Amino acid sequence: MKKRYTLEQKKWDSPIEHAMPAQARVPASFNIGNVTIAPATVLAPMAGVTDTVFRRFIKNASQFSASSSTTDVEATQTNQQSGCGLIMTEFTSADGLSRMRETKRKRYLTYYDDEHPIAAQLFGSNPETLADSARIIQDAGFDIVDLNLGCPAKRVVACNGGSGLLKDLPQIERIFKAIRAAVTIPFTVKFRMGWNDAHIVCVELAKLAEDNGLNACALHARTREDGYTGQARWEYIAAVKDAVRIPVIGNGDIRTPEDAAAMVEKTGCDAVMIGRTAPANPWIFRQIAQYTASKEATGIGTYDHPTNDDRYSMIRTYFQMLVDEIAIEEAAEAARAEAIIAQGQIAREKRNRDAVGKMKQFAAWFTHGVPGGGGLRKQIFEAKNGNAVIAAVEHFFESHQNLPDEADTAPVQSDTALLTEAAYCD
Ligand SMILES: Cc1cc2nc3c(=O)[nH]c(=O)nc-3n(C[C@H](O)[C@H](O)[C@H](O)COP(=O)(O)O)c2cc1C
Repeated sequence: MKKRYTLEQKKWDSPIEHAMPAQARVPASFNIGNVTIAPATVLAPMAGVTDTVFRRFIKNASQFSASSSTTDVEATQTNQQSGCGLIMTEFTSADGLSRMRETKRKRYLTYYDDEHPIAAQLFGSNPETLADSARIIQDAGFDIVDLNLGCPAKRVVACNGGSGLLKDLPQIERIFKAIRAAVTIPFTVKFRMGWNDAHIVCVELAKLAEDNGLNACALHARTREDGYTGQARWEYIAAVKDAVRIPVIGNGDIRTPEDAAAMVEKTGCDAVMIGRTAPANPWIFRQIAQYTASKEATGIGTYDHPTNDDRYSMIRTYFQMLVDEIAIEEAAEAARAEAIIAQGQIAREKRNRDAVGKMKQFAAWFTHGVPGGGGLRKQIFEAKNGNAVIAAVEHFFESHQNLPDEADTAPVQSDTALLTEAAYCD
């Protein structure tokens, strides 16, 4: 096993002690089968977070600067501009998907044209059901289908899904074969290192993926027993990269552009995947792109830090997108004319509750680093509906216009704790 890299060693901001080679940077592109991903950055799937609104929000994050007055997030943005090469859906149950009515499926698999390339992630343990669901994903127009072998949630593991399968490589092989035979779109797998330190299977698993025609693999460099504790062990990403020829996507604990470049440098991975940092700092992908470009041009990596106006623009836009999405869903529902009035009312109230719940959840991450952000969070938590949340955001930023900007947007520990408490992890 190669040298272990720890966060203590990740002091890239101390160039004398820990100089990173000038060539260390995230690649401009990589291929998953016939799909080109450019730049080589991936938004990690996150249950409860990476729905269509958040995914489009991330792809359009480059617009949220004070110099840009537009909130027209439907405008086509290239991945190069946003800095995010690939987005992924939250994990979806293959059992659920194959049983669902067509209309409900559509809601689960909603994505917009400007989300391509996009991968849909499935979890499950039955090869036939997973193969059926992969076909549904392909028919829905997704570019890539991904299999989740990392979810640590007890209810998923109890049905042998997610990381539960890491203990059963023969069953994984049956699943690989069934899905591969069912679809022609690229097929990828995202996994953890193994169940625990006594049972590390990531290299064997990556080889199995390659031998069964999968087009790429992504490793979150922790075991199931690690949960989200400790530091991701990047040396296992390097070991997987050494063992296979298919592209390897490295994942775990990237918080800054320097971390992203360092992961590529230390492991040789073909692309980097970013999870928890994205909701705390939606500019991370653009910052990586800026860091890469400036490093190429001058040998020194630099990137912008968002101003308060940028934050305002970002928060306002994201909340407006959530409110707009409700309106779109309602219009679609009305067009389907399938619900009786009483049911429609219940659905509407639930959607509003969900959207306001998301705003409250995101407020905690987005307002980190904003001077006086605690007051804003309080107002958002007390708001009763989406428009009241937006009004609170507008009022806050109007009355705080002259406060100094905060330079540092790195997530604090509490952001991470909040994220790991979500449904995905029990
Ligand atoms: C709230 C939350 C939800 C997650 N949901 C999923 C998921 O649906 N599918 C998946 O493969 N991984 C999921 N993960 C794991 C992430 O994709 C990623 O592997 C992990 O957070 C490590 O990357 P990071 O250090 O960049 O956050 C989730 C993580 C969090 C925090």
